[in-house]
Amino acid sequence: MHKLHSLTVSSVEKNTPETAVLTLDVPAALADEFAYSHGQHLTLCADVDGEEVRRSYSICSAVGDGQLKVAVRKVAGGRFSTYANETLQAGGEVKVLAPAGHFGIALEPDSARTYAAFAAGSGITPIISILKTTLAAEPDARFMLFYGNRDKSSTIFLNELALLKNTYMDRFSCWHFLSQEETEAAFLKGRLDGEKIQYILDNIMPAAKIDHAFVCGPEAMIDSTVETLLAAGMADSTVHFEKFMSEGQQSQAPVRSEAAEGVSAVTLIIDGDELLLKADKKTLLLDAAHDQGIDAPFACKSGVCCACRAKVLEGEAEMVMNQGLEPDEVAAGFILTCQSYAVSNKLRISFDE
Ligand SMILES: Cc1cc2nc3c(=O)[nH]c(=O)nc-3n(C[C@H](O)[C@H](O)[C@H](O)COP(=O)(O)OP(=O)(O)OC[C@H]3O[C@@H](n4cnc5c(N)ncnc54)[C@H](O)[C@@H]3O)c2cc1C
Ligand code: FES
Repeated sequence: MHKLHSLTVSSVEKNTPETAVLTLDVPAALADEFAYSHGQHLTLCADVDGEEVRRSYSICSAVGDGQLKVAVRKVAGGRFSTYANETLQAGGEVKVLAPAGHFGIALEPDSARTYAAFAAGSGITPIISILKTTLAAEPDARFMLFYGNRDKSSTIFLNELALLKNTYMDRFSCWHFLSQEETEAAFLKGRLDGEKIQYILDNIMPAAKIDHAFVCGPEAMIDSTVETLLAAGMADSTVHFEKFMSEGQQSQAPVRSEAAEGVSAVTLIIDGDELLLKADKKTLLLDAAHDQGIDAPFACKSGVCCACRAKVLEGEAEMVMNQGLEPDEVAAGFILTCQSYAVSNKLRISFDE
């Protein structure tokens, strides 16, 4: 479950000039491990210029497609995304961790729910998986997508979304907002921000009629959209978001709230194995594990992707930064080990929960 598996990339297709869609071959022996639910992501790992680089990518295929696909958009100076767009070819291999994350919600085929999704740029990737899966599994569901991009040529899945509109004519609608190209209607011009979301709620779909909202895009877009939806009366539990990175926090070393001395005896449970670790209380738990040769799972090391999520079963840990776990997970004792320090002298944590 937490081991990297080498998968063959069966195709690399350009969806926009800056976006490569990778289809990954899953051998029959790994089918169960790589079964996924809508909205989950994979951790991909490759040797880039002689160094191992791991990054998270949302699965963009739908559950039931019989395929495993991710879409990687090139970011300027980005190591993995440049490698995926410029070097990786069909027939190549990447190492992959089993699907993780819980951006999507449980399907209810007998319900008749109304969903609204707000996506910008590569934030469409988990959303398209959620919308395709939901429309197929819930015959009475309605889905509205509000999608922001620079222009049409940089819009990921432009054609696929048009086809989905034809397939689900009465149940799926999609509004494209463009910041650098003329649009059919004035309100579609510009970035998706709090003001635009308020316009949508006032003129297209009132918050009271949305059962669940999904938001994914740059951090500022997520924050303003979530804030506007909550201010309009949506409950916390119905507004779901996924961050791809935490701007400005990539290079900050997390700091403990108070000075800590000593060493904690930590038991780590990974894939059913119990591993013992002596963790200095000033060292992040994930770093302590890696320093002692324990192959604990991770990707971003920035408190965003949740690949390093574990549950505290005994003892106390302090999580100094969290951009990925939901409040109910934190309340249940989950931590991001890349952002947590041991507090108690004895600690038992499980990556298998
Ligand atoms: C849960 C999750 C799901 C994700 N899903 C996707 C996905 O489906 N498709 C996708 O393309 N990306 C996705 N990402 C982002 C992805 O993991 C990488 O962060 C991104 O591809 C950049 O990696 P890199 O190695 O190319 O850049 P790096 O070498 O890590 O960074 C180079 C520069 O780019 C900046 N940067 C890093 N990430 C981004 C970003 N996302 N946007 C803008 N600037 C950035 C950095 O601050 C740095 O200055 C996801 C991230 C998470 C946490
Ligand atoms: S490795 Fe991404 S949250 Fe810890």
